[in-house]
Amino acid sequence: MTTPPATIRKQVLSAIQPTGNLHLGRYFGAIQNWVNLQHQYDAVYGIVDYHAMTMPFDPKGLRDQVWNLAFDLIAVGVEPDNMFIQSLIPEHTELAWIFNCLSSYGEVSRMTQFKDKSQQINDKDKDAFISTGLFTYPVLQAADILIYRADYVPVGKDQEQHLELSRNIAQRFNQVVGQDYFVLPECLFTEVPKVMSTADPTKKMSASLGPKHHINVFSDAEVIRKQIKSAVTDSGDTPTGQVSQGVENLFSLVKAAGGHPELASFREQAMDGTLQYGKLKGAVADVIIEMTNPFREKRIAIVEDKKAYQERVAASSEVVRKKAQKTIAEVKDLIGLMNVKM
Ligand code: TRP
Repeated sequence: MTTPPATIRKQVLSAIQPTGNLHLGRYFGAIQNWVNLQHQYDAVYGIVDYHAMTMPFDPKGLRDQVWNLAFDLIAVGVEPDNMFIQSLIPEHTELAWIFNCLSSYGEVSRMTQFKDKSQQINDKDKDAFISTGLFTYPVLQAADILIYRADYVPVGKDQEQHLELSRNIAQRFNQVVGQDYFVLPECLFTEVPKVMSTADPTKKMSASLGPKHHINVFSDAEVIRKQIKSAVTDSGDTPTGQVSQGVENLFSLVKAAGGHPELASFREQAMDGTLQYGKLKGAVADVIIEMTNPFREKRIAIVEDKKAYQERVAASSEVVRKKAQKTIAEVKDLIGLMNVKM
């Protein structure tokens, strides 16, 4: 595919919260796609630390989490010059306030992610602290997106409702100011492999499930091999002709990591009940280790030179900020607020 000239390139924006490490679920489900989209679009990717404050967080660890995730992303191929750190661009929160006043309590209350997350917190502890930030989080997300006039937002299905809210806010703003100022952003869904936990293949791989459930992209080869060795396959009750969820998940991992010459025969053997799980697991570990080897090496090199990378991401945030500053100045002007003279 030829790269379209920069002038007609569409704006892509996505963001990730600096919570937990980069595991295979996050890599295959989102970040690998981010890396590919960089060639075709004008892409910016944020590490959203203001969002990370919506759940209980540790002020002493937050900055390290941001940098560690930045190194992770760069190591797997995200261009540091396409990245920004949200708190280096305070205009996001400024726009979020304006959007708070342009979204209704009712529509924000319908966001299912808030309902799920607050329920989870409540289930663990009835008196737990649920922040107002968690409630208005989708409004900040709308600001992240609209401030760059993004055309496309690569996200998972779970974010569809938040994108709809972003469009509603954009439309309401346009209506209030009587001008088609904001672009209405659209989700960019790409077919991505869904990776389940290796310890419980009925659940999506996620850091919050605990260490046994996710495989860190940067773990040593031996650690990865051991984790795959202990992956759940089946409990012996899978009828002939069918493949258990655990084995299916191992197949997905192999496919996502680029395939294996024996994959088709593994599947046949799984169907007729003759598959040796040890052999399958060896193959899974091989392909994953091969795929992640260059990432591990790159990350070590990045950390050795981390100051330079931190400066690059900070500089890139400065460049990205210019666009946010332009938007916020225009927005304040249109909506009747004062602009600070600079
Ligand atoms: N809400 C997203 C998530 O939980 C993260 C996010 C914040 C985001 N701001 C965004 C995603 C803007 C896309 C665009 O995964």
